[in-house]
Amino acid sequence: MKIIMLGAPGAGKGTQAKRIAAKYNVPHISTGDIFRANIKNNTELGQKAKAFMDKGELVPDSLVLDLIMDRFTEDDCKNGYVLDGFPRTIPQAEALSDALKANGEKVDFAINIDVPDENIINRMGGRRACVGCGATYHIQFNAPKVEGVCDACGEKLILRDDDKPETVKNRLNVYHTQTQPLIDFYEKAGVLVNIDGTQDMDKVFADIVKVLG
Ligand code: AP5
Ligand code: MG
Ligand code: ZN
Repeated sequence: MKIIMLGAPGAGKGTQAKRIAAKYNVPHISTGDIFRANIKNNTELGQKAKAFMDKGELVPDSLVLDLIMDRFTEDDCKNGYVLDGFPRTIPQAEALSDALKANGEKVDFAINIDVPDENIINRMGGRRACVGCGATYHIQFNAPKVEGVCDACGEKLILRDDDKPETVKNRLNVYHTQTQPLIDFYEKAGVLVNIDGTQDMDKVFADIVKVLG
């Protein structure tokens, strides 16, 4: 099963992708998480990506494509994957289609988690991310057991650098101009699923499971 998560920054792509990955036994591949891991380890890729991410801009397609095509060759991708944050531009979507077509494959579901911009700003300010394992919390909607500490690995929780209100506004602009057109792209491909992302997390997941079976 090959699944793509679509939706604005903060729509809940990561939250739902983790649950889908666990239930359907496919890897959760988040390009944002891969970049953040590279930044943390101060790799060359991380240094290049950080300059764009801190401004809320997209990392250039060429950097993203090399990385993701390489990731697909790993063993755990044999039965599919859930992609979170990729593709994000029409050229990325076309590159993915072409790569899959070459093996007689295609995307099975593009799940669009729909959340209006008004709700997003509020969500981002409350998000906390684990520096150790990447788990995501929300101080109001999904609080950790101990404030500031990850339930899963005990590491510190931080506010992401790009979750400051000004950067979030730019990420939303970038989303509307560069990523939203993918909704049409996958609708035309006949694989689009729209989910109301304003509901609580369990209800959002239940709606996704209804579609995936
Ligand atoms: P990325 O890491 O992908 O960030 P994003 O798309 O901006 O999305 P987020 O991770 O912020 O949000 P999410 O939808 O995963 O929401 P979450 O589940 O955490 O990308 C970061 C940057 O990397 C980009 O700006 C770009 O520079 C670069 N990049 C990455 N991929 C790229 C690509 N392919 N091409 C070019 N550049 C790329 O939820 C958010 C919060 O809300 C959490 O606190 C959560 O607990 C809470 N929440 C979730 N669901 C609910 C709910 N139903 N109700 C209430 N609260 C909820
Ligand atoms: Mg995410
Ligand atoms: Zn952790």
